[in-house]
Amino acid sequence: MIKRIAVLTTGGDAPGMNTAIRSVVRYGISKKLEVMGVFRGYWGLINEEMRLLDHRSVSGIINQGGTILKTERCPEFETKEGQDRAHAAVKKNSIDAMIVIGGNGSFRGAHEFGTKYKVPCIGISASIDNDINGIDATIGSDTAINTALNAIDNIRDTATSMERIFVVEVMGRDCGYIALSVALAGGCEDVIIPERKIDLEAICHDIVEGNIRGKISWIIVVAEGAAHAEEIAKKITEMTSLETRAVVLGHIQRGGRPTAASRELALNLGRAAVDCLLKGESDKAVGMHEGKIISIDFEVAIAKKELKVDSFYNLIKILT
Ligand code: F6P
Repeated sequence: MIKRIAVLTTGGDAPGMNTAIRSVVRYGISKKLEVMGVFRGYWGLINEEMRLLDHRSVSGIINQGGTILKTERCPEFETKEGQDRAHAAVKKNSIDAMIVIGGNGSFRGAHEFGTKYKVPCIGISASIDNDINGIDATIGSDTAINTALNAIDNIRDTATSMERIFVVEVMGRDCGYIALSVALAGGCEDVIIPERKIDLEAICHDIVEGNIRGKISWIIVVAEGAAHAEEIAKKITEMTSLETRAVVLGHIQRGGRPTAASRELALNLGRAAVDCLLKGESDKAVGMHEGKIISIDFEVAIAKKELKVDSFYNLIKILT
């Protein structure tokens, strides 16, 4: 029977992780569980940096970005020695099961550790990249998209006023989801994503054509997994002779207060993860798919997510 669970956040932080921690702790306590907070992700498991969390320990964090448990990427957890030490700490601290809040890499770690050492693990999908296979949205992606969108709205003001071309690079690792969403919602003229072949000739052709018609300001969004904004901007200037500026939004997309959508998702997934463990489930991630909370095998969740980009991209181009 499960009496004590551990909760940790690992990998890149995402707005809404704190909200998920609050949900796991308070819902877990309501189910008569003890909840151990592990600090700095898998590193804290290996080095036994953990303490029991009570109801009040998660007060005032529902609206805070980042994670009170801190987070790290931990190469040591990929080694047998690291995993053995983590397992020893799990045993010593009477941890019966774990909830891992994070993205792809975090789930890979939980899958390997959980199956090897027979420790039940459930993942809560939190990452700004929205690259978890089999689910529609990860905690934090909506917030990151809104943050990037605000920046692009600001850039639009100067782009229009000074009649310039801007190339704006957004995060997302190998996934073009953030780029596509902000390009559509921001009314951007084009988007370069890893899921589509880059056709700079076509982009420059559109720019020159538009220029002849009197359209001089452009915003082109680039997903970091496809290209670098600086390089694209340089090439556009070379190919069109038009002034182009590059902006890299970077880590500002990872911070800030979680949006209502990120919070709601986090609160629901926190409860779902605890319920999964209580039902005896393991080696799974919880997430939202077509309006329902589901649990999927880690093996499915960590497989490459195939984004359907064509209709999204076509709409961006039609509406330009
Ligand atoms: O996975 C989240 C993410 O922000 C990616 O979008 C980005 O590529 C990466 O993390 C950056 O990682 P770091 O903060 O370690 O530089």
